[in-house]
Amino acid sequence: MSAVLKNIGIIGAGQMGCGIAHVSAAAGYKVHIYDLSQDRIESGLATINGNFARQVTNGKMTDEERSAALARITGSADVNDLAPSDLLIEAATEDESVKRRIYAQVCPVLKPEAILATNTSSLSITRLAAATDRPERFMGIHFMNPVPVMKLVELVRGIATEEATFSAAREFVASLEKTVTVAEDFPAFIVNRILLPMINEAIYTLYEGVGTVDAIDTAMKLGANHPMGPLQLADFIGLDTCLSIMQVLHDGLADSKYRPCPLLVKYVEAGWLGRKSGRGFYDYRGETPVPTR
Ligand SMILES: NC(=O)c1ccc[n+]([C@@H]2O[C@H](COP(=O)([O-])OP(=O)(O)OC[C@H]3O[C@@H](n4cnc5c(N)ncnc54)[C@H](O)[C@@H]3O)[C@@H](O)[C@H]2O)c1
Repeated sequence: MSAVLKNIGIIGAGQMGCGIAHVSAAAGYKVHIYDLSQDRIESGLATINGNFARQVTNGKMTDEERSAALARITGSADVNDLAPSDLLIEAATEDESVKRRIYAQVCPVLKPEAILATNTSSLSITRLAAATDRPERFMGIHFMNPVPVMKLVELVRGIATEEATFSAAREFVASLEKTVTVAEDFPAFIVNRILLPMINEAIYTLYEGVGTVDAIDTAMKLGANHPMGPLQLADFIGLDTCLSIMQVLHDGLADSKYRPCPLLVKYVEAGWLGRKSGRGFYDYRGETPVPTR
């Protein structure tokens, strides 16, 4: 465990917030999750419980470790409960205005020395930092999905991030037994700068009728040795998040090669956001996922 950080606060009980809570509690930290409603907290805690149980079944942790880790996690829809946080990781919806509103709400509650980090996939760390009262104690700690499985964490400094903030974050990530890669503060950093244009291109391939959902995913799994097809991966990430990252790349780098595919826009407008909403490029409501086109 980190020598300086004991209490980890997490904003957002979605797929990423729950994953970060999971690995932090498993590493011995006390974790508090905040989201907009008690219902979201309850469903997040149920997800974490289920994921811990799977790790027990797979022999990755004992039942005692599972109950001890679970007991270290609390949650509420009251922002004041984040006050003890030494490190607060914001993992709310990928929307700059949402994140700005959250910082305005939480900064007055936090201890002056607390570090505020964002799990954003693409937004400017420097710009988000400027919306807080502590740009020198603000940075990007970008986990990959699913957090308990993926080994990488990208660390991103904003222009004002102090070295002490960066080293505390590096030490925290190492204590979770994850590997750090350092990215500069440019749209979508390293992983998503490379990954999302590939996913967007797969959606164009579908849009232009070059292949079906099944053909495209099979092609990339067997032809490029990817563990998941790009459309399956898009559903897994969340199509709203994918669109948001493409928009950040398009706006931030002003290059037409990042133009979000209109079909991606249409799926998001339909509320077909992938696995988390039950439907995306695949329909997850039955026993096995079925392509939606
Ligand atoms: N999905 C991925 O693969 C992935 C990977 C790495 C990073 N991220 C980033 O992590 C963040 C969260 O993504 P996710 O996939 O967990 O999204 P998600 O949709 O699963 O969860 C977002 C959560 O934020 C909550 N939220 C929204 N507004 C809020 C507010 N004002 N206060 C408190 N909570 C609020 C929502 O209720 C929801 O529970 C985003 O910034 C995303 O870019 C996502």
